[in-house]
Amino acid sequence: MYTNFNDILNEAYKKHQAIGSFNWYHFETLKGVIEAGEESGMPVIASFGAKYLTNMDLDTAAVLTRNLAEKSSQPVCLHLDHSSSLDTIIKAIRAGFGSVMYDGSALPFEENLANTKYVCGIAHACGVSVEAELGTLAAGAKSHEGTAEDRQAYTDPAKAAEFVEKTGVDALAVSIGTVHGMYKGTPNIRVDILKDINAAVGIPLVLHGGSGTPEDRILACIDNGISKINVNTEISEYVMSHTAELLKTESPHLSVLALKQKGWVKDVVSKYIRLFQNL
Ligand code: 13P
Repeated sequence: MYTNFNDILNEAYKKHQAIGSFNWYHFETLKGVIEAGEESGMPVIASFGAKYLTNMDLDTAAVLTRNLAEKSSQPVCLHLDHSSSLDTIIKAIRAGFGSVMYDGSALPFEENLANTKYVCGIAHACGVSVEAELGTLAAGAKSHEGTAEDRQAYTDPAKAAEFVEKTGVDALAVSIGTVHGMYKGTPNIRVDILKDINAAVGIPLVLHGGSGTPEDRILACIDNGISKINVNTEISEYVMSHTAELLKTESPHLSVLALKQKGWVKDVVSKYIRLFQNL
């Protein structure tokens, strides 16, 4: 079923679980994410990055997701990931996305706050949920989203409380030491900062940079307010390494390769869904 972000995130936040938010770029990645959710008996967030608008336009992404979601027994939310463009956000709302992420994290605090509040006004009037971000993540290895200039800046708990109160945002992405891409060294995830943010804001928190994060750190984050976890790089890396291995010995028809790739997407997504249930 096609669902809204708040319907699944608030429930997960109360139960100390997280909903996986998996980036997709084409039909096989989307289908792999939705099938993994269905087979695991858990909702999923099919996260379409504004970065991938050259792969697919918003209307097509919405039609495709709604169609597949309606055939699934599990809730599926279509989410717009990392958009700093208000124009793209409004187009995504009109296309039928269930949630949008306005990413003003590179802007001064007051500007990020004002823009996020504006987005919340429009999105909430249309029944669409909003995620925003405070603080910045560094870029790891093979990052497809971060850039070499990205420097880590942890989220300030007091600023987070002010931001959430004044914007009315539904979920807040925080910077606590995860990176976009694979870690270059040992991850240092600041669960102490996360605890303070959670106590200060009391709304579902979002962890970007899920790929490669140690399992015990992920579980500690879920216990302290993280209710949505984003995974992108690991899906791509896993599918590409299996594809390269296969092509050493076989030369399949593209239709056959596409099905295998959907299966590899499911392997990664199912692994994370199991972990995020925090059982
Ligand atoms: P990774 O690529 O590190 O998994 O991060 C994904 C992400 O945060 C998408 O917004």
